[in-house]
Amino acid sequence: MARRRKEPADHMDAFSIHGGQRLTGNITVDGSKNAALPLLAATLLTDEPVQFDSVPDLSDIANMLHLLEELGCTTSFNEDQIHIQTKDMTQSHARYDIVRTMRASVCVLGPLLAKRGEVRVSMPGGCSFGDRPIDLHLRGLEALGATIHLESGDIVARCERLHGATIFLGGPFGSTVLGTANVMSAATLAQGKTVIESAACEPEIADLAKLLNAMGAKVTGAGTPRITIVGVDALGGATHTIMPDRIVAGTWAIATAVTQGDVLIHRFPLDYLLAVTNILSNVGVHIHQTDLSQNPNSCTVQVVSNQNLNPVMFTTQPFPGFPTDLQAQMMALLCFSKGNSIITEKIYPERFMHVPELSRMGARLIKQGATVVVQGVDRLIGAPVMASDLRASASLVIAGLAAQGETIVSRVYHLDRGYAKMEQTLAKLGANITRIDDTQVIDGLPVVETVSTKKLIQTDS
Ligand code: EPU
Repeated sequence: MARRRKEPADHMDAFSIHGGQRLTGNITVDGSKNAALPLLAATLLTDEPVQFDSVPDLSDIANMLHLLEELGCTTSFNEDQIHIQTKDMTQSHARYDIVRTMRASVCVLGPLLAKRGEVRVSMPGGCSFGDRPIDLHLRGLEALGATIHLESGDIVARCERLHGATIFLGGPFGSTVLGTANVMSAATLAQGKTVIESAACEPEIADLAKLLNAMGAKVTGAGTPRITIVGVDALGGATHTIMPDRIVAGTWAIATAVTQGDVLIHRFPLDYLLAVTNILSNVGVHIHQTDLSQNPNSCTVQVVSNQNLNPVMFTTQPFPGFPTDLQAQMMALLCFSKGNSIITEKIYPERFMHVPELSRMGARLIKQGATVVVQGVDRLIGAPVMASDLRASASLVIAGLAAQGETIVSRVYHLDRGYAKMEQTLAKLGANITRIDDTQVIDGLPVVETVSTKKLIQTDS
């Protein structure tokens, strides 16, 4: 059983932030959500036990464990450790009720197909930042020999044994991270050799390959655009430590910068964040590794910001470029810079839900298509704000940390998906932030959970 489930009441929580406190002190980065979700799904490839360490305490993880239990696994979650074992292979349907609460449920598709020969996964819809197709996932699995059709809103995929193939996974916006995870996982049990060309190079894919190899798979090249997998007959159990979360680490660095703070961040994946630290350094934020003997993908860095912030220009790109998952947070920081910054979103051109909310706090933002010009201002003023996705919500928290007066960020359930007890971490560093029951008045209207706010709980990871 999962240790903890988010109760519906949590959906009514909000953060109250009184801005202006400088962040100082020490924090440690948790394990990565986006690495953990496909890693947990990969346990479906074996009937032996798999142990994970450094698992973040997030509602998305609880949702994934819930899904795995429905698919016949036993799970246990203690502290930051999870044990999972498949016990029953008769139920291979990832139902709409679960997939709509967590889009990343789609990463059970490849493992279930390869292991059980049949799978039914509810087709994920769009999300709050636009269309999120999965055509590349399906094309890759078809190339491995699956027959796939849509039935009552479910993707139904079947195969005898999958066979190796050469598969091109590039799409109009680059490769696909979860699509690469699905095809790579499925190919571990295929007959013969699979080559994925234009594979996603994200470090979370390399972390998944590390687990698969520990389970007995033969995967090489993960982390590069060409991954080769030589199929094996069966996979076994393994123990795996989940990599640190580069997006959470980047969020803490930006939060430090916006408060002109001085924070030591442990387990910081510096080598995976070079595009971000490069931009932060152009902005005028100092980030340096304090102990060069440490692994640069899990080291201690000091983040210090004590000068005027410079404007910058950046474009989101697939790894190793600037990650789309930190675009919103960086925009909040740039609101305080001395001049005009230009941000272009190349992964999700509509991922700008934070723009109107930051504007309500006094930000001067001009949006033209997938580009936003940020005109730095002297101050933001606290306000009631809300966003309909995880990273947009994080950007509102960052803005609130430096704004004058009180900011109330509603719909904290989005943040609980990707940041474990965010308010406690920030409070430990000196922020004046508390979790409140959001039945209070916002914009003159009481906040009540309606069908439409519930619908927004369908997520974006
Ligand atoms: N795309 C297609 N066809 C596909 C799949 C994707 O055209 O079949 C397009 C997408 O529309 C998008 C681009 O390709 O424009 C990249 O999408 P990708 O498939 O890589 O995204 P994902 O794997 O569904 C993961 C993260 C997201 C992160 C993106 C991009 C997880 C669980 N989710 O999603 O994380 O934004 O990669 O880096 O790993 C978040 O954590 O807040 C989050 C949204």
